[in-house]
Amino acid sequence: MRKKEIKENIYWMGAIDWDRRLFDSLIPLPDGTSYNAYLVQGSKKTALLDTVDPSMTGVLMSQLKNISNIDYIISHHAEQDHSGSIPCVLEKYKSAKVITTPKGKGMLIDLLCIPEKRFLTVDDGESLSLGDKTLQFIYTPWVHWPETMVSYLKEDNLLFSCDFFGSHLATTDLYVIDEGRVYEAAKRYYAEIVMPFRKIIQKNLEKIDKYEIDFIAPSHGPVYNKPKFIIDAYLDWTSEDPKNIVVLPYISMHGSTKRMVEYLLSALAEKGITVYQFDLAATDIGKLAITLVDAATLIIGTPTVHVGPHPNVFCATHLANALRPKLKFASIIGSYGWGSNAVEQITGLISNLKAEILEPVLCKGFPDEADFRALDNLAATIWEKHKEHNLTK
Ligand code: FEO
Repeated sequence: MRKKEIKENIYWMGAIDWDRRLFDSLIPLPDGTSYNAYLVQGSKKTALLDTVDPSMTGVLMSQLKNISNIDYIISHHAEQDHSGSIPCVLEKYKSAKVITTPKGKGMLIDLLCIPEKRFLTVDDGESLSLGDKTLQFIYTPWVHWPETMVSYLKEDNLLFSCDFFGSHLATTDLYVIDEGRVYEAAKRYYAEIVMPFRKIIQKNLEKIDKYEIDFIAPSHGPVYNKPKFIIDAYLDWTSEDPKNIVVLPYISMHGSTKRMVEYLLSALAEKGITVYQFDLAATDIGKLAITLVDAATLIIGTPTVHVGPHPNVFCATHLANALRPKLKFASIIGSYGWGSNAVEQITGLISNLKAEILEPVLCKGFPDEADFRALDNLAATIWEKHKEHNLTK
């Protein structure tokens, strides 16, 4: 891909990774991703904002082929998908300095062995003049590491946000064209990466609110030329109130737990609750994470394997706990053959969630009438709880 002009002397200069299907060996990327670097050429100095994943260094270096000088490399975030090509850029531009936060400097030395003398660190709110263009650095910690910052290009009302507002989406479009598609990709990104730090993100959103922003240029996915779209989405996702939604991930080995899941789903749906059901043997965990952004209740369905929950349920429950969604309620349903510690083990895995645990429903073998009545009671309790929290309007 060639570089693309955003405004005069401001260029997208990145790499599109159409075929990447997994990030951090964990996160599914159904639509690939991009690593966006940006070049800002002021009347006196030139800055490269972030680089690209080391697997695509060659793409960036070919875009830089006719750029004779770079004075600064701005590193908003030390993770290697943005920093990994910095050593190669420093090798080409011998006098370039890496500008980052003090925490970012330590991480870049640790991760990439960049010599200390190549760094300049900046304080929160500090500005850097490039001549007729000025970058202001704004600390926005925990998106999703502690060292993260963004840059505001004052003369052009442009925010370079790195992972903040990013979307894992490979596209040839410089700007957001299909808002629905980008919304889904950005929500997936938020759910998997940013959601655990929701409270701090609220503060970061307040911090950037005072800036007039015409463009947001993230380091993954297309540039927002109507930034209200993504800022409003973030305000909604990070808000305190969940929605009238139940998420129902489950595993079933011989059909008993599945029958319970289907019965409960139907009972909840009849009451007007939106329910998302996920078979953990086959589901994309990113889809599960997306639904957890807004859900009020999580019901985990598991059979009993070696006295505890199925290993896939362990894995998904651990992930849900780590993502810290704003759930209010949780419970467990499932089946066992002769004995089970599934409830104790699952409740022990979700301590981060601060959710009220509703009465679980575990049945011996295939569910009978008494088990279905217990599931009716669970559905009624969930409905009452959602009503108490004004979620059912
Ligand atoms: Fe896109 Fe946290 O790196």
